[in-house]
Amino acid sequence: MFKKFDIDNFNQNPFNLIGNEWMLITSKNKQNKKVNAMTASWGGLGIMWGKPVAFVVIRPQRYTIDFVNSSNKFSLCFFNEKYKKTLSYFGTVSGRDEDKISNSDLTIVENSDIPYFYESKIVLFCSNLYKQKFEENCFIDKQIIEKWYPNKDYHYIYIASINQILQK
Ligand SMILES: Cc1cc2nc3c(=O)[nH]c(=O)nc-3n(C[C@H](O)[C@H](O)[C@H](O)COP(=O)(O)O)c2cc1C
Repeated sequence: MFKKFDIDNFNQNPFNLIGNEWMLITSKNKQNKKVNAMTASWGGLGIMWGKPVAFVVIRPQRYTIDFVNSSNKFSLCFFNEKYKKTLSYFGTVSGRDEDKISNSDLTIVENSDIPYFYESKIVLFCSNLYKQKFEENCFIDKQIIEKWYPNKDYHYIYIASINQILQK
């Protein structure tokens, strides 16, 4: 079962957790109450404005961005290795085309109106503090533009406070 986890005792390696294990960004649309999730392997954990925060980056064409913009809340769910295939599915198919959650082996649950997955091993509950689209003229290393943005679909960065951590 999940237990609330004090942020001071959170001793996970964020480079491994996000970069190698990946995460699901899950959010509920405030208007129509629909839920969607997408895989992410870029982002970070740290301190900003005196608060523990997560930052995530979402390209404008992702369906999930509408949900995150609507509620300004999302969860970050981390899973055991056996769910890697599921995370690949959530990272290659859009919720615009398929009901990914129903088609998956994951079970949606909610905590204070923020959806998350019962099968997660760690869940971070996040509230947006700041968002901004990356701007072309702000890239100091211009090779990043060529490599990652041939279609100029610059990510939006969201910096969100981490309000609660659940861990199994
Ligand atoms: C391993 C992996 C990591 C990904 N990381 C990100 C990311 O950090 N930001 C992003 O915008 N898309 C990322 N994606 C792509 C989205 O997960 C993918 O486009 C997804 O289908 C979007 O779903 P949606 O349209 O339902 O939101 C990643 C995909 C994979 C497989």
